[in-house]
Amino acid sequence: MKAILIGLILLLILYGIVFGYTFGFSPMVKQSSIENWIQKETSKKPSYMQSDVCRHCHLKVFTALQLGNHSTVECESCHGVGGMHTKLRTKESIIVENTRDACMVCHKKVEGRNIVVVEEDHGKGVRCTYCHDPHSTKTRR
Ligand code: HEC
Ligand code: HEC
Ligand code: HEC
Ligand code: HEC
Repeated sequence: MKAILIGLILLLILYGIVFGYTFGFSPMVKQSSIENWIQKETSKKPSYMQSDVCRHCHLKVFTALQLGNHSTVECESCHGVGGMHTKLRTKESIIVENTRDACMVCHKKVEGRNIVVVEEDHGKGVRCTYCHDPHSTKTRR
């Protein structure tokens, strides 16, 4: 009787270990699969840099931006993901979207939005950058 009970308990423990391992409950499995997952995710995701990285090669633009109204806006809010560009350093690897729409993403009227907005017909028919310097928000004309 005692032997059967001990046998059953041992079997239960063995089952627990196998079950835990197979379904990823075991801490050992979990740790390694989390690390694999992180590595996979970071290798395929576009990598964002901070303006502080862009500063190293674009000091003039960075400084102008800091002194203007766009000082709180990250370079990549306008130029897109910059991770690849910091490696390749080519014109083709970074977005320059010089359109009205690109500015209106932030400056059109939206209920509850708390930044300075303009009407759709403000400076109509001309690119915003014809009159505004995006990096210093000074008006050019
Ligand atoms: C290691 C240096 C380096 C870093 C860091 C760097 N760039 Fe550049 N970038 C360059 C070079 C070099 C060019 C000029 C390429 C050419 O003229 O062919 C350039 C060009 C550009 C251009 C102009 C593209 C065009 O079509 O005229 C933009 C916009 C730009 N970078 C934005 C950024 C942003 C945003 C960051 C930060 C995410 C950044 N860069 C970080 C070296 C760098
Ligand atoms: C508010 C949007 C916006 C932000 C923020 C912004 N840019 Fe730009 N950037 C533009 C636009 C639009 C152009 C093209 C317009 C033009 O050439 O007049 C441009 C052009 C450029 C150019 C190529 C022409 C030039 O002026 O040298 C570089 C390099 C550049 N940006 C780098 C940066 C870097 C670095 C930052 C962050 C420190 C940054 N930009 C932040 C909108 C932005
Ligand atoms: C990512 C959001 C964003 C984008 C995109 C953006 N801006 Fe701005 N802009 C801001 C913020 C934030 C301010 C700071 C003023 C505020 O908080 O009300 C600002 C301020 C300005 C001002 C000064 C307004 C004043 O206070 O007198 C001008 C002019 C301006 N932006 C023009 C542009 C132009 C032109 C573009 C396109 C090249 C552009 N912005 C794209 C966020 C943005
Ligand atoms: C024909 C020239 C011209 C064009 C094009 C233009 N603007 Fe302006 N904008 C001005 C002038 C002039 C002012 C008055 C304030 C000043 O002198 O800085 C102004 C003011 C602003 C302000 C501040 C408004 C406020 O209430 O304080 C913002 C934000 C702005 N413009 C964004 C834009 C955006 C976004 C575009 C493109 C959709 C654009 N502008 C196109 C000339 C222009």
